[in-house]
Amino acid sequence: MKFKSIKGTKDILPDESYRWQFVEQTIRSVMHAFNYREIRTPVFEETALFARGIGELTDIVGKEMYTFLDRSGSSLTLKPEMTAAVMRSFIQNNLGEQQPLVKVYYIAPMFRQERPQAGRLRQFHQFGAEAIGASHPYIDAEIIVLSAEIYKALGIKNFEIKINSVGCEQCRPSYKDKLTKHLQSVYDKLSEESRKRFGQNPLRILDSKDENDRALTNDAPLMKDHLCEECSSHFSQLRSILTSLNIEYQIDGRIVRGLDYYTKTAYEIVSNDLGSQDALTGGGRYDLLVKELDGKQTPSVGFAAGIERALMAMEKQNLFSGEQFSPKIFIAAADSAGKDWAITQAMTFRQSGISCEIDFLERSLKSQMREADRQKAEFVIIIGENELRNGHVSVKNMKTGNQTIVMIKDLVNHFQYQEGKDEPGKKD
Ligand code: HAM
Repeated sequence: MKFKSIKGTKDILPDESYRWQFVEQTIRSVMHAFNYREIRTPVFEETALFARGIGELTDIVGKEMYTFLDRSGSSLTLKPEMTAAVMRSFIQNNLGEQQPLVKVYYIAPMFRQERPQAGRLRQFHQFGAEAIGASHPYIDAEIIVLSAEIYKALGIKNFEIKINSVGCEQCRPSYKDKLTKHLQSVYDKLSEESRKRFGQNPLRILDSKDENDRALTNDAPLMKDHLCEECSSHFSQLRSILTSLNIEYQIDGRIVRGLDYYTKTAYEIVSNDLGSQDALTGGGRYDLLVKELDGKQTPSVGFAAGIERALMAMEKQNLFSGEQFSPKIFIAAADSAGKDWAITQAMTFRQSGISCEIDFLERSLKSQMREADRQKAEFVIIIGENELRNGHVSVKNMKTGNQTIVMIKDLVNHFQYQEGKDEPGKKD
């Protein structure tokens, strides 16, 4: 039997990992520019954390979590998202007592048992940020701008920011009644999925992708038009801050998000380049979550974004940023004396921070040269008994084809100068 990777999971192969490294480095540098520091939490948590945090009636908790009993009978879940896990860590480690506003980011794998398709995996990767401890819409704006800046830094152009307000515990219940009444009149014509949502979370019918559902809910009341004074003022302040920051956005009253913890701001960044799974980013404010998880009420806002989807958008826009890794030096040995020297010299280069490869497959000099070329080594050192006797080697620059003679004892220095982009011999 041949083993295969699990459905909905993907290998990141050596030929593509440089693109992931580029994306991750870019994310880190933008996050640091905004003064967010990294948090890493375990891959699994107690199941109840997600059930309570995300909401029992959500799709994630109801049908998508990878939940299992460990050998001692505890119910554990591979994290389907980071927000609940970060809040657990925030509460457990008293992070709020060390500073009034905690700004953290993450890059991590997530797990959801969804039906795999383009842009939808069962193990996928998110980057995201959470700002825990501030209620002013300035910080909602910062989160939205931060996510957009990352796409800009990656070179992604075709994306749209859609914002909404999903209200709070004051204004949402009465709005929900209005919506339910409205939906009753079209209930029989709704899709099966939406009919199921009717009794559980009717707001989610608004973000149904089904064309017919959308037409039927065209004139449904929207939360943004039924906000209490506080939510309404928060939403209008957010809009004017975004405008003052020259951020283009659209108001989309249908954005409700698939997780239960949101209050006030909810937003998504979408791209037409992604097909049906068009959401690059999802996020918003969740002022009640920390309390829900038995901490002190702490106003918070954040976002998360799929790395695979960012890479898909980059591919679609022909952005192949980042550089494939290749060794600086390949030592090609002409004979067995050369091979003995090569393995020791390679270690010396590596310990000096200069990447170096040698031949392990007993190939001819000619095929070692071909291999060096295939691996895109910058330089090839040719070594054999003659060179060893004379104390110098020939160094071939693989880009220009130029060959120089370098004393063996000077080799490390020679390449360290190269590293500093100074030509050897030209230093005073
Ligand atoms: P979410 O909307 O569930 O929000 O996920 C955020 C992003 O993760 C999506 O926009 C998408 O790019 C990516 N994503 C989600 N599921 C998959 C999948 N199966 N395959 C590939 N990519 C996927 C959250 O997770 C919230 N925790 C966001 C948040 C943070 N809200 C506040 N803070």
